Amino acid sequence: MTVLDRLLQTIHSSEDVVRVRQLARERAIAQGFSLVDQTKLVTAASELARNTLEYGGGGEVLIEILNDGIRKGVRLTFSDQGPGIVDLDLALKDGYTTGGGLGLGLSGARRLSNEFSIDSKPGEGTRVAITRWR
Ligand SMILES: Nc1ncnc2c1ncn2[C@@H]1O[C@H](COP(=O)(O)OP(=O)(O)O)[C@@H](O)[C@H]1O
Ligand SMILES: [Mg+2]
Repeated sequence: MTVLDRLLQTIHSSEDVVRVRQLARERAIAQGFSLVDQTKLVTAASELARNTLEYGGGGEVLIEILNDGIRKGVRLTFSDQGPGIVDLDLALKDGYTTGGGLGLGLSGARRLSNEFSIDSKPGEGTRVAITRWR
């Protein structure tokens, strides 16, 4: 698997969340994603960017263009140095929220992605990576 291009975008405001959506859309289009797959990536990116802002206290996303033989993909890695998540299994359950949201962000992002990983330590922060392949 080769990383063809990478870009770091900070997430410290709702304007940055909009920017993340735009960048995810642009990269998905550049990789030849169908409209449905573009929307899946952008929706997941939006949820994770908002979590980074609201729960992580801000952070960043690394956007990578991937090439794996004939497959083309986009990987998004969100990271923050916020409070972290104590119970990951619980946080990934549909409907679980500590912030009065719908509790569908993490679980939805996982369903909308081909690869999903989450790494979080209480007091140290959270990193969530998703990959969508064409
Ligand atoms: N980056 C993060 N840092 C700390 N906690 C997080 C982070 N992302 C998600 N969480 C926790 O996981 C819960 C579930 O997130 P999510 O599924 O997006 O639902 P919602 O955003 O509606 O609360 C959040 O309520 C929060 O407690
Ligand atoms: Mg959320």
